[in-house]
Amino acid sequence: MNDLAELIAAAETDFAAAPTPAELENAKARFLGKSGRLTEMLKALGALSIEEKKTRGAEINQAKQRIEALLTARRDALAEAEMNRQLQAEALDVTLPGRQRGGGSLHPVSRTIERIEAIFASMGFDVAEGPEIETDWMSFTALNNPENHPARSMQDTFYVDMKDEQGRWLNLRPHTSPMQVRYARAHAARHAQALAAGQPMPEVRVIAPGRVFRVDSDATHSPMFHQIEGLWLGENVSFKDLKVVFASLVREFFETDDFDVRFRPSFFPFTEPSAEIDISFRSGPLAGRWLEVAGSGQVHPNVVRNFGLDPEQQIGFAFGIGADRFAMLRYGIDDLRLMFDGDLRFLSQFA
Ligand code: DAH
Repeated sequence: MNDLAELIAAAETDFAAAPTPAELENAKARFLGKSGRLTEMLKALGALSIEEKKTRGAEINQAKQRIEALLTARRDALAEAEMNRQLQAEALDVTLPGRQRGGGSLHPVSRTIERIEAIFASMGFDVAEGPEIETDWMSFTALNNPENHPARSMQDTFYVDMKDEQGRWLNLRPHTSPMQVRYARAHAARHAQALAAGQPMPEVRVIAPGRVFRVDSDATHSPMFHQIEGLWLGENVSFKDLKVVFASLVREFFETDDFDVRFRPSFFPFTEPSAEIDISFRSGPLAGRWLEVAGSGQVHPNVVRNFGLDPEQQIGFAFGIGADRFAMLRYGIDDLRLMFDGDLRFLSQFA
């Protein structure tokens, strides 16, 4: 190996060994700098003859070009390595899903109540809401419950440690039926005016959805659940109208015509006669079973009187829908407790 080949090899090794651009510049100086090895060789040319100068000069120039090329290659390599290091450090995985706040969604019971409200609104029903803490009179007495009715007992009803003006314990309403009383009484003045003016009686047509509370808890009972109360009073409102209203509700809510509705005789103190409303689908997973979905009946004259209305003038029906039941039937949910556990794995299925 001649001295120039050796010089090139040394430069290549030195450049490769320089880990940073600064050290590479130091290595460059050792070869191409003012007193670098190649520069020294050029200076030595002066001592040679013209002929020797030509050949040796050309060889040295070639070696110089080679070393400069090696230098450029190493500079590029170091710059690229630095760029890669930075890219690594600032790596951003654009394929990761963004961190967002969950969108949230309506609870299946809320959806159910909203749907039922819209269906009743289309049939001319008002939507009313009222208190969850009730007086004894609203929850029981006004609704024609005898003083010793079991619904009043401590076993069924949650009581609040506070008394009303009559000195009776307040209760967590065990049903939405007090809303019949509150709504009808609030509208009794309208009726009195119409009567005095000899005008036709305005009808009472309302639903009242909301939470209700009972001392009860298992797969089919929750201490808190939801009802939708309904009341329709007029001069001539009958069970036939109730059946039409209910069939419309079922048809629109479940989006099918393929079902039957039946009234099964029952008892409630605030209605006479009273009936449970059952529905049965003729097809689908629930086909053939009678499913109880509401209590109902013709509003008892005593209750109409407690509304502040005249039972001779106002007749009609009331009903209490199990809203959770409707939700479970629509979405195929088989355990009531799932509805109130707040488990996102369950709830997000309704998003
Ligand atoms: N309040 C009853 C209950 O909770 C349901 C009910 C039955 C409501 C008949 C009514 C009705 O309005 O007419 O079991």
